[in-house]
Amino acid sequence: LRIVLMGPPGAGKGTQSPKIKDKYCVCHLATGDMLRAQVRAGTPLGLQAKKIMDSGGLVSDEIMVGMIQDELRNNEECKNGFILDGFPRTVPQAEKLDAMLADDKKKLDHAVELIIDDNLLVSRITGRLIHRPSGRTYHRIFDPPKVPGKDDVTGEPLIQRSDDNPETLRKRLATYHKQTVPVAEYYKKKGIWSGVDAAQSPNAVWQSLLAIFGDRD
Ligand code: AP5
Ligand code: ZN
Repeated sequence: LRIVLMGPPGAGKGTQSPKIKDKYCVCHLATGDMLRAQVRAGTPLGLQAKKIMDSGGLVSDEIMVGMIQDELRNNEECKNGFILDGFPRTVPQAEKLDAMLADDKKKLDHAVELIIDDNLLVSRITGRLIHRPSGRTYHRIFDPPKVPGKDDVTGEPLIQRSDDNPETLRKRLATYHKQTVPVAEYYKKKGIWSGVDAAQSPNAVWQSLLAIFGDRD
Protein backbone atom coordinates (compact mmCIF):
# COMPACT_ATOMS: atom_id res chain seq x y z
CA LEU A 1 0.00 0.00 0.00
CA ARG A 2 1.51 3.33 -1.08
CA ILE A 3 -0.19 6.39 0.35
CA VAL A 4 0.27 10.14 0.41
CA LEU A 5 -1.51 11.85 3.34
CA MET A 6 -1.86 15.58 2.89
CA GLY A 7 -3.55 18.37 4.78
CA PRO A 8 -2.79 21.74 6.37
CA PRO A 9 -0.81 22.17 9.62
CA GLY A 10 -2.78 20.54 12.46
CA ALA A 11 -5.12 18.58 10.17
CA GLY A 12 -4.11 15.31 11.85
CA LYS A 13 -1.44 13.81 9.56
CA GLY A 14 0.87 12.96 12.44
CA THR A 15 -2.04 11.68 14.56
CA GLN A 16 -3.39 9.26 11.94
CA SER A 17 -0.17 8.13 10.22
CA PRO A 18 1.15 5.88 13.04
CA LYS A 19 -2.19 4.05 13.04
CA ILE A 20 -1.93 3.45 9.29
CA LYS A 21 1.66 2.30 9.74
CA ASP A 22 0.63 -0.25 12.39
CA LYS A 23 -2.43 -1.54 10.57
CA TYR A 24 -0.91 -1.97 7.11
CA CYS A 25 2.74 -2.63 8.08
CA VAL A 26 4.11 0.19 5.97
CA CYS A 27 6.75 2.77 6.85
CA HIS A 28 5.74 6.26 8.00
CA LEU A 29 7.91 8.95 6.46
CA ALA A 30 7.26 12.40 7.93
CA THR A 31 9.48 14.98 6.27
CA GLY A 32 8.87 17.54 9.04
CA ASP A 33 10.09 15.00 11.64
CA MET A 34 13.14 14.21 9.51
CA LEU A 35 14.00 17.90 9.27
CA ARG A 36 13.54 18.39 13.04
CA ALA A 37 15.94 15.48 13.62
CA GLN A 38 18.52 17.34 11.49
CA VAL A 39 17.91 20.49 13.54
CA ARG A 40 18.53 18.59 16.79
CA ALA A 41 21.66 16.97 15.39
CA GLY A 42 22.93 20.46 14.47
CA THR A 43 23.83 19.50 10.89
CA PRO A 44 24.32 22.24 8.26
CA LEU A 45 21.00 21.20 6.70
CA GLY A 46 19.37 21.41 10.13
CA LEU A 47 20.63 24.95 10.71
CA GLN A 48 19.33 26.05 7.31
CA ALA A 49 16.03 24.19 7.72
CA LYS A 50 15.30 25.64 11.16
CA LYS A 51 15.22 29.19 9.78
CA ILE A 52 12.90 28.14 6.98
CA MET A 53 10.56 26.14 9.24
CA ASP A 54 10.33 28.94 11.80
CA SER A 55 9.40 31.36 9.00
CA GLY A 56 6.66 29.06 7.69
CA GLY A 57 8.32 28.54 4.31
CA LEU A 58 9.42 25.39 2.49
CA VAL A 59 12.80 23.68 2.29
CA SER A 60 13.98 23.24 -1.32
CA ASP A 61 12.42 20.56 -3.50
CA GLU A 62 15.86 19.14 -4.29
CA ILE A 63 16.68 18.47 -0.63
CA MET A 64 13.27 17.02 0.16
CA VAL A 65 13.16 14.74 -2.88
CA GLY A 66 16.65 13.48 -2.03
CA MET A 67 15.56 12.69 1.54
CA ILE A 68 12.52 10.70 0.44
CA GLN A 69 14.44 8.89 -2.28
CA ASP A 70 17.04 7.77 0.28
CA GLU A 71 14.38 6.37 2.59
CA LEU A 72 12.36 4.63 -0.11
CA ARG A 73 15.49 2.98 -1.48
CA ASN A 74 17.19 2.03 1.81
CA ASN A 75 14.62 1.76 4.58
CA GLU A 76 13.67 -1.91 5.02
CA GLU A 77 10.37 -0.92 6.66
CA CYS A 78 9.24 0.59 3.37
CA LYS A 79 9.34 -2.65 1.41
CA ASN A 80 5.61 -3.32 2.04
CA GLY A 81 4.67 0.23 1.14
CA PHE A 82 4.66 3.63 2.77
CA ILE A 83 2.67 6.49 4.14
CA LEU A 84 4.09 9.90 3.28
CA ASP A 85 3.19 12.61 5.82
CA GLY A 86 4.12 16.13 4.69
CA PHE A 87 5.48 15.13 1.30
CA PRO A 88 4.92 16.06 -1.52
CA ARG A 89 4.20 19.70 -0.72
CA THR A 90 4.74 21.16 -4.20
CA VAL A 91 3.80 19.97 -7.67
CA PRO A 92 7.48 19.44 -8.62
CA GLN A 93 7.86 17.17 -5.54
CA ALA A 94 4.78 15.20 -6.65
CA GLU A 95 6.18 14.82 -10.17
CA LYS A 96 9.56 13.68 -8.85
CA LEU A 97 7.87 11.13 -6.58
CA ASP A 98 5.94 9.68 -9.52
CA ALA A 99 9.13 9.47 -11.58
CA MET A 100 10.98 7.80 -8.70
CA LEU A 101 8.27 5.17 -8.30
CA ALA A 102 7.96 4.63 -12.07
CA ASP A 103 11.71 3.83 -12.14
CA ASP A 104 10.91 0.91 -9.81
CA LYS A 105 7.74 0.01 -11.77
CA LYS A 106 5.56 1.17 -8.88
CA LYS A 107 2.87 3.79 -8.39
CA LEU A 108 0.84 5.48 -5.67
CA ASP A 109 -2.43 3.86 -4.59
CA HIS A 110 -4.03 6.78 -2.75
CA ALA A 111 -3.55 10.48 -2.11
CA VAL A 112 -5.78 11.45 0.80
CA GLU A 113 -6.43 15.07 1.70
CA LEU A 114 -7.50 15.88 5.26
CA ILE A 115 -9.93 18.74 4.73
CA ILE A 116 -10.55 21.26 7.50
CA ASP A 117 -11.26 24.95 7.80
CA ASP A 118 -8.24 27.14 8.67
CA ASN A 119 -9.90 28.70 11.72
CA LEU A 120 -10.17 25.31 13.47
CA LEU A 121 -6.40 24.84 13.21
CA VAL A 122 -5.24 27.63 15.53
CA SER A 123 -6.39 25.85 18.69
CA ARG A 124 -5.09 22.49 17.46
CA ILE A 125 -1.62 23.88 16.78
CA THR A 126 -1.22 26.09 19.83
CA GLY A 127 -2.38 23.28 22.17
CA ARG A 128 -0.20 20.55 20.69
CA LEU A 129 2.34 18.78 22.94
CA ILE A 130 4.93 16.31 21.68
CA HIS A 131 7.05 13.57 23.23
CA ARG A 132 10.15 14.03 21.14
CA PRO A 133 11.82 10.59 21.40
CA SER A 134 8.69 8.66 20.31
CA GLY A 135 6.84 11.29 18.27
CA ARG A 136 3.72 10.74 20.38
CA THR A 137 1.42 13.72 20.10
CA TYR A 138 -1.05 15.08 22.64
CA HIS A 139 -3.25 18.11 22.93
CA ARG A 140 -3.73 20.22 26.06
CA ILE A 141 -7.53 20.11 25.64
CA PHE A 142 -8.47 17.54 22.97
CA ASP A 143 -6.10 14.73 24.01
CA PRO A 144 -4.48 15.58 27.35
CA PRO A 145 -1.70 13.40 28.80
CA LYS A 146 -2.57 11.53 32.03
CA VAL A 147 -0.10 13.69 33.96
CA PRO A 148 0.04 17.30 32.69
CA GLY A 149 3.18 17.95 30.62
CA LYS A 150 4.42 14.33 30.83
CA ASP A 151 4.39 11.47 28.30
CA ASP A 152 1.92 8.69 29.25
CA VAL A 153 4.39 5.87 28.54
CA THR A 154 7.75 7.17 29.75
CA GLY A 155 6.79 10.05 32.05
CA GLU A 156 9.29 12.21 30.18
CA PRO A 157 8.54 15.90 29.52
CA LEU A 158 6.43 17.01 26.56
CA ILE A 159 7.55 19.91 24.38
CA GLN A 160 6.03 22.45 22.01
CA ARG A 161 7.35 22.94 18.47
CA SER A 162 9.00 26.32 17.85
CA ASP A 163 6.79 26.82 14.76
CA ASP A 164 3.58 26.18 16.73
CA ASN A 165 2.63 29.79 17.42
CA PRO A 166 -0.15 31.88 15.83
CA GLU A 167 2.19 34.06 13.68
CA THR A 168 4.14 31.18 12.14
CA LEU A 169 0.93 29.19 11.72
CA ARG A 170 -0.53 32.00 9.59
CA LYS A 171 2.50 31.81 7.30
CA ARG A 172 2.40 27.98 7.18
CA LEU A 173 -1.27 28.13 6.16
CA ALA A 174 -0.54 30.70 3.43
CA THR A 175 2.25 28.47 2.12
CA TYR A 176 -0.11 25.47 2.17
CA HIS A 177 -2.78 27.24 0.14
CA LYS A 178 -0.31 28.58 -2.40
CA GLN A 179 2.05 25.62 -2.87
CA THR A 180 0.31 22.46 -1.63
CA VAL A 181 -3.35 22.84 -2.63
CA PRO A 182 -2.21 22.48 -6.29
CA VAL A 183 -0.80 19.06 -5.33
CA ALA A 184 -4.35 17.94 -4.47
CA GLU A 185 -5.42 19.08 -7.95
CA TYR A 186 -2.55 17.09 -9.43
CA TYR A 187 -3.79 13.90 -7.72
CA LYS A 188 -7.42 14.60 -8.64
CA LYS A 189 -6.38 14.61 -12.29
CA LYS A 190 -4.63 11.27 -11.77
CA GLY A 191 -7.81 9.80 -10.26
CA ILE A 192 -6.25 8.69 -6.95
CA TRP A 193 -7.43 11.57 -4.73
CA SER A 194 -9.89 11.15 -1.81
CA GLY A 195 -10.98 13.79 0.68
CA VAL A 196 -11.72 13.18 4.37
CA ASP A 197 -13.47 15.58 6.75
CA ALA A 198 -10.70 16.21 9.30
CA ALA A 199 -12.91 18.27 11.62
CA GLN A 200 -14.44 15.02 12.90
CA SER A 201 -13.15 13.26 16.02
CA PRO A 202 -9.82 11.42 15.61
CA ASN A 203 -11.67 8.10 15.66
CA ALA A 204 -14.19 9.18 13.01
CA VAL A 205 -11.28 10.34 10.81
CA TRP A 206 -9.66 6.94 11.32
CA GLN A 207 -12.87 5.15 10.27
CA SER A 208 -13.03 7.30 7.12
CA LEU A 209 -9.43 6.34 6.30
CA LEU A 210 -10.19 2.64 6.81
CA ALA A 211 -13.10 2.97 4.37
CA ILE A 212 -10.67 4.28 1.73
CA PHE A 213 -7.78 1.85 2.27
CA GLY A 214 -9.88 -1.22 3.07
CA ASP A 215 -10.37 -2.65 6.55
CA ARG A 216 -8.48 -5.86 5.92
CA ASP A 217 -6.48 -7.70 8.58
P1 AP5 B 1 5.43 19.33 9.23
O1 AP5 B 1 6.06 18.77 10.42
O2 AP5 B 1 4.97 18.41 8.16
O3 AP5 B 1 4.24 20.26 9.71
P2 AP5 B 1 2.79 20.60 9.13
O4 AP5 B 1 2.50 20.16 7.75
O5 AP5 B 1 2.61 22.04 9.41
O6 AP5 B 1 1.84 19.69 9.92
P3 AP5 B 1 1.75 19.49 11.48
O7 AP5 B 1 2.75 18.51 11.93
O8 AP5 B 1 1.74 20.82 12.15
O9 AP5 B 1 0.25 18.94 11.57
P4 AP5 B 1 -0.34 17.46 11.59
O10 AP5 B 1 -1.30 17.38 10.44
O11 AP5 B 1 0.71 16.42 11.64
O12 AP5 B 1 -1.17 17.55 12.93
P5 AP5 B 1 -1.20 16.56 14.21
O13 AP5 B 1 -1.68 15.22 13.80
O14 AP5 B 1 0.09 16.63 14.96
O15 AP5 B 1 6.41 20.37 8.54
C1 AP5 B 1 7.07 21.37 9.29
C2 AP5 B 1 7.90 22.26 8.36
O16 AP5 B 1 8.94 21.47 7.73
C3 AP5 B 1 7.16 22.90 7.20
O17 AP5 B 1 6.52 24.09 7.59
C4 AP5 B 1 8.30 23.12 6.19
O18 AP5 B 1 9.04 24.26 6.52
C5 AP5 B 1 9.18 21.90 6.40
N1 AP5 B 1 8.83 20.79 5.48
C6 AP5 B 1 8.29 19.58 5.84
N2 AP5 B 1 8.08 18.81 4.76
C7 AP5 B 1 8.48 19.54 3.69
C8 AP5 B 1 8.49 19.30 2.29
N3 AP5 B 1 8.03 18.15 1.77
N4 AP5 B 1 8.97 20.28 1.47
C9 AP5 B 1 9.43 21.44 1.97
N5 AP5 B 1 9.45 21.73 3.29
C10 AP5 B 1 8.97 20.79 4.15
O19 AP5 B 1 -2.37 17.26 15.06
C11 AP5 B 1 -2.21 18.58 15.59
C12 AP5 B 1 -2.85 18.66 17.00
O20 AP5 B 1 -4.26 18.46 16.91
C13 AP5 B 1 -2.35 17.58 17.98
O21 AP5 B 1 -2.22 18.15 19.25
C14 AP5 B 1 -3.44 16.51 17.96
O22 AP5 B 1 -3.53 15.86 19.22
C15 AP5 B 1 -4.70 17.32 17.66
N6 AP5 B 1 -5.65 16.61 16.81
C16 AP5 B 1 -5.37 15.79 15.75
N7 AP5 B 1 -6.51 15.32 15.18
C17 AP5 B 1 -7.53 15.86 15.91
C18 AP5 B 1 -8.97 15.75 15.82
N8 AP5 B 1 -9.56 14.99 14.86
N9 AP5 B 1 -9.71 16.44 16.71
C19 AP5 B 1 -9.12 17.21 17.68
N10 AP5 B 1 -7.77 17.34 17.82
C20 AP5 B 1 -6.98 16.67 16.94
ZN1 ZN C 1 2.84 16.46 11.63
